[in-house]
Amino acid sequence: MTKIVHMSDIHVGFAEFREDILLKAINQINKLHPDAVVISGDITDHGYYREFVKVKEYIDLIDSPTIVIPGNHDARNIGDEVFEEIIGSRDSTLELKESNIKIIGLDSSVPDLGHGKIGRLQRKFLETEIRDAKERDMFIIITVHHHIIPVPNTGRERNVLSDAGDILLLLLENNINLVLSGHKHVPHVWKMNNTLFVTAGTVSSMKLRGNTHPSFNVLDINDDNVKITLYNYDGTIHELTPP
Ligand SMILES: [Fe+2]
Ligand SMILES: [Fe+2]
Repeated sequence: MTKIVHMSDIHVGFAEFREDILLKAINQINKLHPDAVVISGDITDHGYYREFVKVKEYIDLIDSPTIVIPGNHDARNIGDEVFEEIIGSRDSTLELKESNIKIIGLDSSVPDLGHGKIGRLQRKFLETEIRDAKERDMFIIITVHHHIIPVPNTGRERNVLSDAGDILLLLLENNINLVLSGHKHVPHVWKMNNTLFVTAGTVSSMKLRGNTHPSFNVLDINDDNVKITLYNYDGTIHELTPP
């Protein structure tokens, strides 16, 4: 079995970013000994240099291998350039050799704008990585900050991925196993064909919708079977299943 933690929307720099909540989550995650931790964007609130320096210190506290992608907040104030300097490439991959899993990280941010886009160039990167993974019969996980399918209980639909239709088709045609997103701060799961689309809540900010808590998701992968568990800051834990 492979255990992957999916956390998102840390928002360092936001007035109601809560360091205590983040440190508690990281402590809990380290005790779970996951094979990898996926951080799906909005690690900062304004894309400021000092926010990236601070969030890097937190990320470095995670014992497991991590893959981090930017969100729209990270691409503010030339944060997209700072991301590359402090965190690393904005699109990247992480391979888990033992479990034959490939995680492909995409950058859906557009500098200083709320909405997202993958774009043609990055689509080529995605296609190449998918082809390589399929040739090696790998379990494929894609992480992208903006949701590809609208998430319920989030209010007015906005800041969407402008090429969501093309990306959705590419993902379904290739039977991608898992797609991990953030952005809306609402945990949810959709299943379409054979693909699970999972969104995580915000792990450490009080940018919350309705009566919800900061949270992260734990994914237990057994062959092609995926169990998703939501860990809330208030200590409650429950399984997330598609409707
Ligand atoms: Fe966010
Ligand atoms: Fe976002």
